[in-house]
Amino acid sequence: MTTDTITNDWTSVAETITVCRADELPEGQMRLVEAGERKIGVFRCGDGELYAIEDRCSHDDGPLAEGEFDAGACTVECPRHGSLFDLRSGRPKTLPAFQPVDIFAARVEDGEVKLEV
Ligand code: FES
Repeated sequence: MTTDTITNDWTSVAETITVCRADELPEGQMRLVEAGERKIGVFRCGDGELYAIEDRCSHDDGPLAEGEFDAGACTVECPRHGSLFDLRSGRPKTLPAFQPVDIFAARVEDGEVKLEV
């Protein structure tokens, strides 16, 4: 698990940040990045897709992105009280959390992982 220094550039709609080189985020791995006051976890699931969620559980602000990551199911389990979140939608699949967390668009562009925040 790594917290990276990010570089910024602006688009007309949202801020796009560079997370890392694409080969530095293989399937089954997560990178934690800081975007302003937020931390965001960027995950590459078993299907090779990238998903990004805020690192703050909707139940009690637990460090969600740092929980146990199941790349096959594309879920992460909050390390504080155990709610399981779907990384594709940001929605909890189990209690005690019942509200979704914010999700962000992530993609590979020019060999780098880009994140829109
Ligand atoms: S803080 Fe995540 S389940 Fe309670």
